[in-house]
Amino acid sequence: MKAIILVGGEATRLRPLTPDTPKAMMPVLNAPFLGYVIRRLKSHGADEIILTQSHYARAIKDHFGDGKSLGAKLKYVIESVQMGTAGAVKNSEAWLGKTFLVLNGDVFTDLDDAALVAFHQAKKAAATIALTPVADPSAYGLIETEADGRVRRFLEKPRPEEITTNMINAGTYVLEPEVLKRIPSGTKFSFERELFPDLLARGEPVYAYPSDAYWIDMGTPENYLKLSGDLLLGKSRQCPSAKTKVISGEGRRIHPEAEIKGPVLVDRNCTIARKAKITGPAVIGAGTTIGEGALVDNAVIWQKVSIGQGATVKNSIVANSCRLDDGCRLESAVLGDSVIVKRQAAPAPGSRIPPGTTVS
Ligand code: GTP
Repeated sequence: MKAIILVGGEATRLRPLTPDTPKAMMPVLNAPFLGYVIRRLKSHGADEIILTQSHYARAIKDHFGDGKSLGAKLKYVIESVQMGTAGAVKNSEAWLGKTFLVLNGDVFTDLDDAALVAFHQAKKAAATIALTPVADPSAYGLIETEADGRVRRFLEKPRPEEITTNMINAGTYVLEPEVLKRIPSGTKFSFERELFPDLLARGEPVYAYPSDAYWIDMGTPENYLKLSGDLLLGKSRQCPSAKTKVISGEGRRIHPEAEIKGPVLVDRNCTIARKAKITGPAVIGAGTTIGEGALVDNAVIWQKVSIGQGATVKNSIVANSCRLDDGCRLESAVLGDSVIVKRQAAPAPGSRIPPGTTVS
């Protein structure tokens, strides 16, 4: 089985973390996000994987290469201009002969792809869309189905009185190669807004496959932070339950009077000083230093970050090589690479601070 992973979006919602680090390469428990997606596909029988990029994100190929280290075969297809989700797949048509999978490259899920493909084949569908339930469906595109799973209609961002289902498009599809004929060449084209409604209007068999497996779109800072926490708390089958203190990484120096309340993951070469307090879920990237009396609570800290004495970092994401001086305070903030937060500074809660900025 071949699979296509879409990794060519602009990731605007994750700014200021991207594009210095492409979304697919953002660290999740200190390892690139895309690795989880590839491993899951592989474990479900898809090992020939096409990565479609709208610009050459060198970091992805540098890290994953031909995929051998993960036991997969990776191919990179680059669009000369951004083609949209369906356009990107059309652009890879030459490599797609039989039934194939398409995945949004920013979804983390325990969905059973093999079961999804089996359902698609049993229904003799042209396209099958995986569905996931959400608590508040009003901000999403909803998919209504008949009792046998055939799609009845798509509902984009419905008003409260229009909501008839809490099932949304989970960003994983199984497609027959014939549907590619419905995607114009060389044009930006979307699955959600164009191809699927078009197939439905033509009476093609479009099916939906509901699953309540763990699912999250990590494409916003809030969800990215939640994903790390969920994984540390053992909510996904892919990362067996941690729930207690987790410490790993060579060359770490943790002062005996530092207080670590799990689940916390500390990567190699980190230093955690006396009376520093880390409350999980939290992930501390390689080479990071946490100063005396500092507090880190529900955070993802990338590599080579320096957190000064008595500083506070709560509900925040701090990218590579940032420097937080003594006594500064971050609350629900997102810092791009190499941000400096000066002594005692306290950016407004919810701040998004671009790479290289100095905040005083
Ligand atoms: P935002 O700008 O934050 O909405 O991010 P996005 O454009 O990356 O995400 P969106 O949810 O719109 O896209 C879903 C998936 O499709 C993501 O994995 C994107 O990387 C990918 N994607 C979106 N547009 C394109 C495209 O034009 N080409 C390719 N190859 N992939 C795309």
